[in-house]
Order: sequence, then structure tokens, then C-alpha cells
Amino acid sequence: MSRVALVTGGSRGIGAAISQALKDAGYAVAATYAGNDEAAAAFTEKTGIKTYKWNVADYAESAAGIAQVESDLGPVDVVVANAGITRDAPFHKMTPEQWHEVVDTNLTGVFNTVHPLWPGMRERKFGRVIVISSINGQKGQFAQVNYAATKAGDLGIVKSLAQEGARAGITANAICPGYIGTDMVMAVPEKVRDSIIAQIPAGRLGEPEEIARCVVFLASDDSGFINGSTISANGAQFFV
Ligand code: CAA
Repeated sequence: MSRVALVTGGSRGIGAAISQALKDAGYAVAATYAGNDEAAAAFTEKTGIKTYKWNVADYAESAAGIAQVESDLGPVDVVVANAGITRDAPFHKMTPEQWHEVVDTNLTGVFNTVHPLWPGMRERKFGRVIVISSINGQKGQFAQVNYAATKAGDLGIVKSLAQEGARAGITANAICPGYIGTDMVMAVPEKVRDSIIAQIPAGRLGEPEEIARCVVFLASDDSGFINGSTISANGAQFFV
């Protein structure tokens, strides 16, 4: 039987490429989305991957959604906590709302996604937790105090889960994408985006598929001794 993979924010951007790559690798995939019904329907139409709508910032919604996925597809073996948002503003202009929205989605959202799945993974003695962090969680970023804090926090989650899950056959790893050609990066003002691309030694934005291939590698049965790690995929823009 196929292993089951759940990808949050899995119908657009990096998440869509991850969902597709996992499907291509033989997983039964469920992709979640928060609000864009049209994009989700188009994604399902194109890929045959079923989508589920819930807000990762809400624990009860996440737990109920995950229960539905498991009833449809079976126990989740691989979870990719990918859903994330930006609310960029220089710190002196950042509002408490912008802070909380990003923390609730990018950080608490990872807790809400993994926590309901954890007991089952422990029981079955197998699990792959993969969190999509960011280069900006490693280096910080102008106008992203909120986002960088959550993405750095995601690395703390992974390193702690790795220690707790290791003896139960569960691995937890993070991927830190650099700047990838998605809607999120395209929303950065063109002048600022050009100056960022100029700082990438590869001379280009990354492609969502380049992140998806890292996920497939970490999800595989063969990568069981890779645990608590961070894979940077950023075109040599930043080294830890
Ligand atoms: N470094 C240094 N200075 C920067 C800067 C940067 N990266 N970005 C903006 N600035 C400067 C501007 O040049 C401007 O300077 P001047 O006033 O001297 O002209 C000033 O900061 C901006 O001041 P404003 O009051 O005009 O700022 P604003 O309230 O209009 O906000 C902004 C503009 C939201 C900061 C906008 O510039 C922006 O979106 N910047 C990009 C932030 C960014 O890189 N986000 C990453 C998104 S992609 C992502 O997050 C995915 C991932 O994981 C990699």
C-alpha cells in the first residue's frame, strides 16, 4: 500500500510542487489550502490530488481536517508543514496584528499540523516530519521581524522533535529555501526583488521543484538516519 503524505499549503507555490513530486514518487497525497478555492480546484483538476480546506492557525480545525484525511486515505506517514504567509513591514511600522497573523500561521501552524499526527506516528513506529522554514529564518531579513522569528522557531521545533522521535522511528527535518519563483516572492516590489536576486550567486531565483526534490529525499525510508537536520537550498546566498 502507498504511504500517505499530507502537505499543508499544498495547492500553490512550493507546496504544489511538493504535492506533485510526492505523488510522482508513489505517495497518496492530501494537500491543504486556506482560502483560494479556485486555485485549489484548478490544482485538483490538473493533478488529481485531493485538497482539503482548513486554517492551520486553528488547532481544532487542523485536528478535524487531519481526521478526515486519515479516514479518506489512511494514517499519515509523511507530513510536510509548508503553509506560510508574509506580512512584511519595517519594524517601526509592523502592527501587533501583522506579528500575530504570521506567528499563528507559520509557527503555531506547525504545532497544530504535527501535534495531532504525533501519537499515531509513535504508535506505528514510523514518521517523517518535514518543515519548510526559510533562508530568512537563518539570516533575518529587513521588514521580516515576524516572518524571520517564526522561521527560526520552526528550526527549534524540528531539532526538538528529532530528539523525541528518534527512538520511535520518526525523523524531523527542515528545509530552508532561499528565494524561489513563487507568488510570495513575486509580491516583493520589483526593485527590491532585483536587488535580492543580485545577491544570489546562482544569479537566479530557485524553482519550486528544487525544493520538492529535497522533500522526496527526506521523506524516503532510506533517509532514516537524517534527523534534526536543515537542508539549505538557496543558490549559495547564505551559509550557516
Ligand atoms: N534592505 C535594505 N533596505 C530596504 C530593504 C532591504 N531588503 N527593503 C526595503 N528597504 C528600504 C527601502 O529602500 C526604503 O528606503 P528609503 O526610505 O531610503 O527609500 C525603506 O526600506 C522602505 O521604507 P518604506 O517606508 O517605503 O517601507 P514600506 O512601509 O513601504 O515597506 C517593504 C516596504 C514592505 C519593506 C518592501 O520594501 C518589501 O516588501 N521589501 C522586501 C522584504 C522581503 O525581502 N521579503 C521577503 C519576501 S519573500 C519570502 O519571505 C520567502 C522566503 O522565505 C525567502
